[in-house]
Amino acid sequence: MKTLITYYSRTNNTKKVAEGIQNKLSCDIEEKIPKTNYSGKIGYMKGAKDSAIGKKIKIEKTNYNPEDYDCIILATPIWAGTMSSPILAYINENANKFKNVIYVATSKSDDGKKTFNKMSEIIGKEPLETLMVKESELNNLDSKISPIIDKI
Ligand SMILES: Cc1cc2nc3c(=O)[nH]c(=O)nc-3n(C[C@H](O)[C@H](O)[C@H](O)COP(=O)(O)O)c2cc1C
Repeated sequence: MKTLITYYSRTNNTKKVAEGIQNKLSCDIEEKIPKTNYSGKIGYMKGAKDSAIGKKIKIEKTNYNPEDYDCIILATPIWAGTMSSPILAYINENANKFKNVIYVATSKSDDGKKTFNKMSEIIGKEPLETLMVKESELNNLDSKISPIIDKI
């Protein structure tokens, strides 16, 4: 399947997972850049608040058209028990263009279930596969990633 990985990463954990998958699939990949500044301590608090209330933020323009792909892998950090606001923005703008979806999330301890359910609710599709990576698992990615590679 022609696959695009779209991710947001504030501190590179999700980026590491997204790039790990991209290395195996050699597919297109794009990072979503929010127009809101989420860096530093103030950014952390802003991110938690914006995600918790599902704030509609703006993101930089998308380079790849999701309609050109059979599968979109959406990768996000968990913020305040849900998806990060940049990935929410991307989904809100593009959900009707997704053919198949796979969800990837990283967190400190969250199991991702609520987040993945919310993503499906907005997109109106069940994912082909989901992958949850906790910070403590970031150094052992190969075995975690393989179920996704098998689905593509
Ligand atoms: C604003 C904010 C809120 C967070 N909320 C949660 C949370 O509710 N549960 C959790 O397990 N981790 C939470 N985390 C931790 C991140 O999900 C985790 O560190 C993730 O791997 C960061 O990914 P990144 O480096 O790609 O940004 C939060 C981090 C940030 C910055």
